Amino acid sequence: MTKIKAALLGFGTVGQGVYEAIKSHQEKLQERLVAEVEIVAVLIKEPYKKREIDPSVLITTNFEDILNIPDLDVVFEAIVGETPSFTYLSKAIEKGCHVITANKVMFAKYGKLLLEKGRKKNVYVGYEATTAGGVPIIRTISQQLQVNDIQRVQAVLNGTSNFILTEMREKGLSFQKALESAQLHGYAEADPANDIEGKDAFFKLMILSDLVFGAQPDWDAVEVEGIQHITVEDIQAAKTQHLRYKHIADIYRYGRTLKASVKPVLVAPDHALYSIEGVENAVTIYASLVDKITISGPGAGKFPTASAMIEDFVSGYQIPRYQFTLNI
Ligand code: NDP
Ligand code: HSE
Repeated sequence: MTKIKAALLGFGTVGQGVYEAIKSHQEKLQERLVAEVEIVAVLIKEPYKKREIDPSVLITTNFEDILNIPDLDVVFEAIVGETPSFTYLSKAIEKGCHVITANKVMFAKYGKLLLEKGRKKNVYVGYEATTAGGVPIIRTISQQLQVNDIQRVQAVLNGTSNFILTEMREKGLSFQKALESAQLHGYAEADPANDIEGKDAFFKLMILSDLVFGAQPDWDAVEVEGIQHITVEDIQAAKTQHLRYKHIADIYRYGRTLKASVKPVLVAPDHALYSIEGVENAVTIYASLVDKITISGPGAGKFPTASAMIEDFVSGYQIPRYQFTLNI
């Protein structure tokens, strides 16, 4: 059977999820792709960590080793930070590899450029996992809402924040305890500042903005506020009035510009995002024909994110190469 050679950049929560899911779902992958998907190399940062990786797999701290693999088909990227990621993915695309990324910090800034590079080299650039974890929001918008005029997007985009708010409300946990629990579950970033300060949701909103409106608002004009100042008392007081704090990312057209904000909002039971709980994310889209739809699911974590990356790859791999020039 034909082999699809894959390299994995990063072997943390997400990288391990992709590695294990490719093994556990190999039969399904072979059915869909008529080829075996094999992880041939893993890029990591710290060479002395103990890892559960087959001895046949190349483990390296040097990206050039990955680039030198002959006939490499795809690179799955789940590392931290924008600069190495952008450089590595640009080089992989240049070599003719498909790339699938979960890195929203990088993609919010360089997404358009990477997609353009991908089009020029006829390779697939998949970024489903950058936004809303396991929720197939990128594919839903790009494939299922091609004709609708989308006017507004309102979303819960940070699983860690929503998880913390839920734990504080339902279990009365302190902010710190709830954050530690989110970290243990693998929802939070290694440095959780972006999660709790609203920046993670901001990056995801900018990725959606590019997709929906073909542009981003001026980053400095976007109001960005996190959940770090909300206390258990605030949340319990809201609860007595049947209200919930939700960290909401919002973007809409305003004349010729885009208005966006990312901040905690008190919502009532009739709000589409009121019942989004725990690590869930949800995106509500207001559009000309469909009116209003909300799509939700797990917004972070090992296997939901691996699911997004693998499904993204399978969809992209099935597209005939010449079609990448069509901006899919
Ligand atoms: P982790 O911190 O668990 O893992 C990061 C991995 O990347 C580690 O294996 C680390 O190496 C490696 N790494 C970091 N920097 C470099 C570098 N410069 N060169 C080579 N390897 C590097 O992170 P996650 O798995 O949680 O997240 C990975 C990416 O996916 C991030 O961009 C994150 O924002 C994104 N993401 C995370 C989700 C989640 O639920 N956790 C969901 C969606 C996206 P080493 O093991 O040696 O330390
Ligand atoms: N730290 C992120 C979150 C991971 O909690 O939503 C998913 O992008």
